[in-house]
Amino acid sequence: MTDSPLTPLSPTGPSTETSGAPTFSDAHSLTVGPDGPIVLHDVHLVETLAHFNRERVPERSPHAKGSGAFGEFVTTEDVTRYTKAALFQPGAKTRMLARFSTVAGEQGSPDTWRDVRGFSLRFYTTEGNFDMVGNNTPVFFVRDAMKFPHFIRSQKRLPDSGLRSAEMQWDFWTLSPESAHQVAYLMGDRGLPRSWRHMNGYSSHTYMWVNAQGEKFWVKYHFHTDQGVQNLTNEQAGELAGKDADFHRRDLYDAIDRGEFPSWTLSMQVMPYAEAADYRFNPFDLTKVWSHRDYPLIKVGTMTLNENPSNFFAQIDQAAFAPSNLVPGTGISPDRMLLARVFAYADAHRARIGTNFHQLPVNQPLNGTGNTFLDQGHMQYQQYGAAPVYAPNSKGRPWAEQQGPVDNGWEVDGELVRSAATLHAEDDDFGQAHTLVRDVFTDAQRERLVETVAGSLVDVDEPVLSRVFEYWRNIDDQVGAAIEEAHSQGQVDQVPGSDPIAEDQILKG
Ligand code: HEM
Repeated sequence: MTDSPLTPLSPTGPSTETSGAPTFSDAHSLTVGPDGPIVLHDVHLVETLAHFNRERVPERSPHAKGSGAFGEFVTTEDVTRYTKAALFQPGAKTRMLARFSTVAGEQGSPDTWRDVRGFSLRFYTTEGNFDMVGNNTPVFFVRDAMKFPHFIRSQKRLPDSGLRSAEMQWDFWTLSPESAHQVAYLMGDRGLPRSWRHMNGYSSHTYMWVNAQGEKFWVKYHFHTDQGVQNLTNEQAGELAGKDADFHRRDLYDAIDRGEFPSWTLSMQVMPYAEAADYRFNPFDLTKVWSHRDYPLIKVGTMTLNENPSNFFAQIDQAAFAPSNLVPGTGISPDRMLLARVFAYADAHRARIGTNFHQLPVNQPLNGTGNTFLDQGHMQYQQYGAAPVYAPNSKGRPWAEQQGPVDNGWEVDGELVRSAATLHAEDDDFGQAHTLVRDVFTDAQRERLVETVAGSLVDVDEPVLSRVFEYWRNIDDQVGAAIEEAHSQGQVDQVPGSDPIAEDQILKG
């Protein structure tokens, strides 16, 4: 790779044009006399205005509002029986980047609106970038990628007024009963984390690990906060949304600035490859968790965030996380949501950031951009000189040509169909949501859930309203009845207080 020698940008040197020549003035335009018009050949003014017009890049379509920090992941345990990935070998230390976000809000929207929170991690490993792009809940609203854009639009804004709409959200959810488990999480205490430091992160999807012997395992990633799970009440969150829209962004930045470095412990659920076929829940259904009794947590290591971004736009906004960024010893699974995500993110980055997004420093793997045959495109920065731009070639530029089964693949056979996945023994839409609401939530948490849901129904009309009551009755008879009752009595004020949910109680059944 050859690049022309560059001197670094210098914010302490004299002001320059983009050409490098000295700037005459950043304060005064070129005018015809002190009171006359500006002139078009004021190159500096024209360039300043033209660049300003192009300052914004499109925000992320979902997860637009967020922030993050750099840190380190240390593998403290020996999980070599499950994976050969370099970053998960005992003692390995890996630089990393985390970005936390809300899902539906736009840039500038309040951090404390009730929502699922994104939990994106990038590990700069010796084998390339490994990204774990998860959420603070272990499940999701839908299980087929076809529904994802519809789901996101239902959470955003109405086409006519541009307003958010609870009616639109409930309309989508109640017509998509597979959302029940995630909606129960969202309406529970965890829908309002106190800060990003006080929430857990989950891969949610099932992924694959492969060990050095080629043995495969289905895995789920759980990052448990070492700060303890803490949540806000509706009241606190509402007040904060008005006072400080950036409450979570500020909290993380200030904590790291003070030297209070937040950390999380990574544990895995590991399922032997062959057990997926007849596990009681479809293990590739993103709306389901695996019982911790069936697959207990196996500790792996610790991630610590210890370095704030030096430039928010360059390092956080332009960060391009993608579930397709995998390293040897890791892989995806047949979860059809995940399969679609593997396409969607890099495509979003090409649209949002630009064709050569992978060349930006925050997105570069440790080995630069390696030896890819991706050539040219807008804003190509790194280049391979006169090296051949094609493979195969006889000019000495290496290319890959492995054939045969991939070590992180799986077997499939069947005709092409459009169909829901085959149900496993205990698969349904409401069972795990019921377990969460009835067996994991405490009485106080259930009461707050009822008030939160009833509070969200104030502007919801028929026929959606009746469907909401039925949806909650399907989850839990008593909770459904209580929501209807609270709604009819107008008891929609929020109650204070919020308890952390013990993670080991996530699914008792
Ligand atoms: C088929 C389903 C999905 C599709 C098509 C999809 C697509 C996208 C797209 C296009 C972005 C914006 C990326 C960017 O502009 O940089 C995004 C962001 C994100 N998505 Fe998804 N998504 C899906 C499901 C999920 C699920 C299930 C999770 C969590 C388990 C998730 C977590 C995130 C997070 C955390 C971000 C923010 C990434 C960042 O911090 O930059 N998404 N998604």
